[in-house]
Amino acid sequence: MSMLKTESLSIHFGGLKAVDQVNLEIQKGQLFGLIGPNGAGKTTFFNLLTGVYRPTLGKILFDGKDITSTPTVERSHLGIRRTFQNIRLFKGLTVLENALIAYDQKLSYSIFDTFALNKKFDSQEKVAAEKALSLLQLFQLDRHVHEKAGDLPYGAQRKLEIIRTLMSDPKLILLDEPAAGMNHSETEQLMNLIRKVRDDFNLTVLLIEHDMKLVMGLCEQIAVLDYGVKIAQGAPQEVSRNPKVIEAYLGLEAES
Ligand SMILES: Nc1ncnc2c1ncn2[C@@H]1O[C@H](COP(=O)(O)OP(=O)(O)O)[C@@H](O)[C@H]1O
Ligand SMILES: [Mg+2]
Repeated sequence: MSMLKTESLSIHFGGLKAVDQVNLEIQKGQLFGLIGPNGAGKTTFFNLLTGVYRPTLGKILFDGKDITSTPTVERSHLGIRRTFQNIRLFKGLTVLENALIAYDQKLSYSIFDTFALNKKFDSQEKVAAEKALSLLQLFQLDRHVHEKAGDLPYGAQRKLEIIRTLMSDPKLILLDEPAAGMNHSETEQLMNLIRKVRDDFNLTVLLIEHDMKLVMGLCEQIAVLDYGVKIAQGAPQEVSRNPKVIEAYLGLEAES
């Protein structure tokens, strides 16, 4: 059962083919990695999936529905949620508030009501708060609930961004370099958490990573982008042995 499918998905910025005829199919429940050197088009691919950019060419099917022309907000209501390579949180608000605001926008109360956390919770707010607290606990951020998001260490901010995607019961989460800036043990813990939320919440996960080694232990299927083109796809072992992939990564090392 396909959760996401792209057909010849392409976007050109002037003469630059940032994403070029990419065909990708992700099955329901799959943990899928999208890797490639810097500038390969990974983030742009996410921007196409979420509707930030309109494709020059091609189609996007989500859960069997053609969403190529569906507005961003509607895609998020359909169940596509993302994190950003450059963390986007309400830095002046608390950790808990950041999680609560991400709770489905369908709710009847305004954002400002959620700030008045000491007022009597109605049942929806109670559900949201319980959900937020249990996710914060799972990600070991429960000690920080009342701290300002901007005061958290970098790795904790990245985790909070993932929690925000999970608040609205998404079907597909798109994680853009979730472990960037994390040390080895933080990264390992994060990878385990991603696997756990996939299992517990029956999610499909598409994960962008720059570091090939990092996704090897986590993802079941990996696609590799280079200069906007999908140059390989397969199981981690297969992909890591692929000469085209090795060349793309070695080329990068030689440049830097
Ligand atoms: N809005 C834009 N206008 C022009 N060029 C862009 C735009 N967004 C991305 N690009 C270019 O597209 C290419 C892919 O970028 P990006 O998707 O951010 O790569 P990655 O996430 O794989 O590192 C880069 O060459 C980048 O400069
Ligand atoms: Mg990127």
